[in-house]
Amino acid sequence: MKNTILVTGGAGYIGSHAVLALKNAGYEVIVLDNLSNGHRELVEDVLQVKLIVGDMSDRSLLDNIFSTHNIAAVMHFAAYIAVGESVTQPAKYYQNNVVGTLTLLEAMLKASVNKFIFSSTCALYGVPQFIPLTENHPQDPISPYATSKWMVERILSDFDTAYNLKSVRFRYFNAAGADPNGLLGEDHEPETHLIPLVLLAALGKRESIVIFGTDYPTTDGTCIRDYIHVTDLAQAHILGLEYLLKGGESEVFNLGNGSGFSVREVIETAKEVTGKVLKIEERDRRPGDPPILVGSSDKARQKLGWRPEYPNLNEIIRHAWEWHIKRHK
Ligand SMILES: NC(=O)c1ccc[n+]([C@@H]2O[C@H](COP(=O)([O-])OP(=O)(O)OC[C@H]3O[C@@H](n4cnc5c(N)ncnc54)[C@H](O)[C@@H]3O)[C@@H](O)[C@H]2O)c1
Repeated sequence: MKNTILVTGGAGYIGSHAVLALKNAGYEVIVLDNLSNGHRELVEDVLQVKLIVGDMSDRSLLDNIFSTHNIAAVMHFAAYIAVGESVTQPAKYYQNNVVGTLTLLEAMLKASVNKFIFSSTCALYGVPQFIPLTENHPQDPISPYATSKWMVERILSDFDTAYNLKSVRFRYFNAAGADPNGLLGEDHEPETHLIPLVLLAALGKRESIVIFGTDYPTTDGTCIRDYIHVTDLAQAHILGLEYLLKGGESEVFNLGNGSGFSVREVIETAKEVTGKVLKIEERDRRPGDPPILVGSSDKARQKLGWRPEYPNLNEIIRHAWEWHIKRHK
């Protein structure tokens, strides 16, 4: 058995897939999750990993976890994630995503744990000045959610300088899909991500699918996004962890598919995969939605040897569909 890894937010969508990858790679795992948006049964029944139900802002709980377990590194997924809600409730986002993370980092320093993997976002680039986005694209976050991630990235850089805390910051593009073996999948409440929304419509759980903006300067007028399979994201976390455990310096990596798909392409592919007729509603653009967000993940490929195994949109949606059918039967 290898080292113990503390996974915050491990009862959530991406965190649970990372826990599965960690288990498969032979690591001991402890999950800390307050279950504000996570699922107890995924951790306890499906993954069969120790779950501590609690909040990352609970300093005495954190001190207790670090003093009673031999933790080699922390993978930090816990956060509030709804961009729209962050605009109307910024205090909630800064409190949880920034102050909560700071509490966690301080507890790590006290316990002399200095390896940290952070879930950041491509949203911190703001409106793209060039495509594909590379890690050195200027940063100009336009929502409190994205700003909260940008702030933590700055904190991590200062903590490396001052306290030698080594971090890998992964800037995800759109996480999508589900465990290919059907064990885990995406189950947010409320759901705001396109692929699950389309699949919920295919299951009859939602009336229709809304397309926000059909007059963008793209091939079919709808926004283009970069969808990366959640199992490929999870695998990158194993590589990032091994990189840090071998003594790697702090680094930042984009994690994306490298190719973009329009909203209409996603809907058409979902129709093929599910065989369902889907009702579409076309509405005006939403403020702050850039026409195209596609990333370059060349750095992760070169430096970590990361090779996404499921880049195909049809396969991403098929895995998500299989999970949704199982989840809602
Ligand atoms: N889903 C995406 O496409 C995407 C894209 C970019 C970045 N991210 C980041 O990846 C991470 C995981 O995203 P996700 O889609 O799996 O979200 P998720 O909501 O499914 O998972 C987050 C988990 O964190 C837990 N949590 C939240 N606040 C907590 C706290 N204070 N203490 C303990 N647990 C807490 C929730 O209960 C939940 O289980 C987040 O940090 C998110 O910002 C996600």
